Amino acid sequence: MSGQRKLHLGAFMRPISIHTGAWRYPGAAPDANFNFPLLRRFAQRLEAAKFDAFFMADHLAVLNMPVAALKRSHTVTSFEPFTLLSALAGATERIGLIATASTTFDEPFHIARRFASLDHLSGGRAGWNIVTTANPDAALNFGYDDEIDHDERYRRAREFHEVVTGLWDSFADDAFIRDVEAGIYFDPDKLHVLNHKGKYLSVRGPLNIARPVQGWPVIVQAGASEAGRQLAAATAEVIFLAEPRIEAARAFAADIRSRMVALGRDPAHLKILPGALTVVGTTIEEARAKRAHLDSLVHYDSGIHSLSGMLGVDVSRYDPDGPLPDIPPTNAGQSGRERILDYARRENATIRQLAARAGSYAGLSFVGTPESIADEMQDWLESGASDGFNIMFPWLPSGLDDFVDLVVPELQRRGLFRQDYEGTTLREHLGLPRPENRFFPSS
Ligand SMILES: Cc1cc2nc3c(=O)[nH]c(=O)nc-3n(C[C@H](O)[C@H](O)[C@H](O)COP(=O)(O)O)c2cc1C
Repeated sequence: MSGQRKLHLGAFMRPISIHTGAWRYPGAAPDANFNFPLLRRFAQRLEAAKFDAFFMADHLAVLNMPVAALKRSHTVTSFEPFTLLSALAGATERIGLIATASTTFDEPFHIARRFASLDHLSGGRAGWNIVTTANPDAALNFGYDDEIDHDERYRRAREFHEVVTGLWDSFADDAFIRDVEAGIYFDPDKLHVLNHKGKYLSVRGPLNIARPVQGWPVIVQAGASEAGRQLAAATAEVIFLAEPRIEAARAFAADIRSRMVALGRDPAHLKILPGALTVVGTTIEEARAKRAHLDSLVHYDSGIHSLSGMLGVDVSRYDPDGPLPDIPPTNAGQSGRERILDYARRENATIRQLAARAGSYAGLSFVGTPESIADEMQDWLESGASDGFNIMFPWLPSGLDDFVDLVVPELQRRGLFRQDYEGTTLREHLGLPRPENRFFPSS
């Protein structure tokens, strides 16, 4: 059993479910998205189940859909990730805390400080989900008239990562000598001033925070377009994937790992965790009935605008029972768009069917018994399609409780998941090395 590769499990908290029908499911807490005592309980339950991380998505605007659709979504109100995760850091001891932050609408000095602070506050449990922010409405909240071009966002993101990691390396790990006798707080030879002047960013530094406990908080990404893959190959240590097909996920993993090798990175220093909506039942039929009920709680007004958002084109004016018209290229996220277009072509689906799919969660899902879900997860792990999953709960609390109480013990019984944490930091949970300080190498 000891030689068995193990799954890594993140909890995809948005801060609760990604599914638009989640808040309406019988027994669900409709306000869970914005209820701190409940969120604290979720984090503590996930930690008791030995999850690697609690992941907090973030969007810098309400979802870009009309109020007729927006009024149906629990995600319209959500905590700011650092504030929530700092509070959760005080309520937990081991679980990783991953925050989403944007390289398009934020400044590297702010981002470096916030993540360094969260990493110190939590004893080395922080992770940064780098997003370039596809929602065009976000631009309007930051003084821009228009959205920034997709590939341009990724070029800025590459430089942004370089600057943030450079800022984290401002001080050597042993810079703070705090010599009370001599009156010297830190050794100035162990301080590096970044002096970065690049195409997009100009940052002098140094960061006014000691090097993070983990060296660098864990770098996470979810882009899957050509530009997204190249950024991930250069910088990501964890990738959240939205790919539902196992062969395509395997091809994705092989592609990213070969890009990493070409860039001189060790491909073992990357964990790929597809998002997976899991619905647990005592029989497969019962689980399917639960999923069908959940999907039926998504209103057409909501589904059609989720579809428009994924496509980057408003398709609400077309006949719901007709086919999808030709969609021009857009600036929206590319990978979700391709997947839904591919599905529309393959299934010859009507707009109504596509709306139901887009609104109810079109990505990977495991719907079945604890045993059948463990079988599928094992297959993904052992065939090299993933290193684990970012679990999306269908509704809360009981969708989370079912996973923790029924699926986790089954995975543990098979030796596929840890019985206890072996380390204290998120890097240790994920089996990732601590990066060397680029200005103060240890040898
Ligand atoms: C599991 C998962 C989680 C994501 N979380 C966020 C998020 O919290 N905020 C955000 O702006 N984008 C998020 N995204 C969008 C990605 O950052 C990215 O824009 C999208 O996958 C499209 O890829 P592309 O930009 O390479 O085309 C997420 C994507 C996935 C698959």
